[in-house]
Amino acid sequence: MISVDGPSGTGKGTLALRLAERLGWHFLDSGALYRLVALCAGDAGVALDDEAGVARVAHELPVRFEVSGGEFRTLLEGRDEAERLRTEDAGTAASVVAALPAVRAALLERQHQFRQLPGLVADGRDMGTVVFPDAVLKLFLTASVEVRAARRHKQLRGKGIDVSLAALLEDIRRRDQRDRQRTIAPLLPAPDAAILDTTDLGISAVEHHVIGLLRERGIA
Ligand code: C5P
Repeated sequence: MISVDGPSGTGKGTLALRLAERLGWHFLDSGALYRLVALCAGDAGVALDDEAGVARVAHELPVRFEVSGGEFRTLLEGRDEAERLRTEDAGTAASVVAALPAVRAALLERQHQFRQLPGLVADGRDMGTVVFPDAVLKLFLTASVEVRAARRHKQLRGKGIDVSLAALLEDIRRRDQRDRQRTIAPLLPAPDAAILDTTDLGISAVEHHVIGLLRERGIA
């Protein structure tokens, strides 16, 4: 079990997916669960601050994940929801519902079910602190907010989505603040996490470093 936590734009999702592929382990994108809950609540007309209503949506989430050829697919009732899930609005709505204790409790059991042999790489905010505190390797990725916004900007432009860098920077700052300041499972490194600053590191360099850590622990 390996946990990869940190704010968005640090490369943690890409790193977690690459590690899962390399090790032949399962993969959990826990952020996708929070995004889906917010999306489904919106579709069902449940207000994002209706804690009991959103928690009910979280309990009943008809989701399935698939990984193939380095691609991660999120299927909601069989439909691929990648496009709607990856928008900035979905990220912001996810961070709103993620601050509700009943929603986090509803998703806990579902996240634990991903833990299957031969192993799991879990990507999120509280994987090493709350959901899988006994992970054999805990990673916490950071990077300057400017670099994270620039990465996100490039990613969106690559998909033909035009947003201003200034607006993205503001969105990311606001989401970071909400994630760090919430009273339940705030975004924080576990005391035993290895902290990696990816501001000046490409994903391959980060992966290389982590493989060294895995070898030290006899995992790879
Ligand atoms: O990682 P991603 O950007 O998809 O996460 C969207 C939001 O979901 C985060 O900003 C955070 O508020 C929430 N989240 C969380 N705990 C996790 C994963 C995501 O609170 N383990």
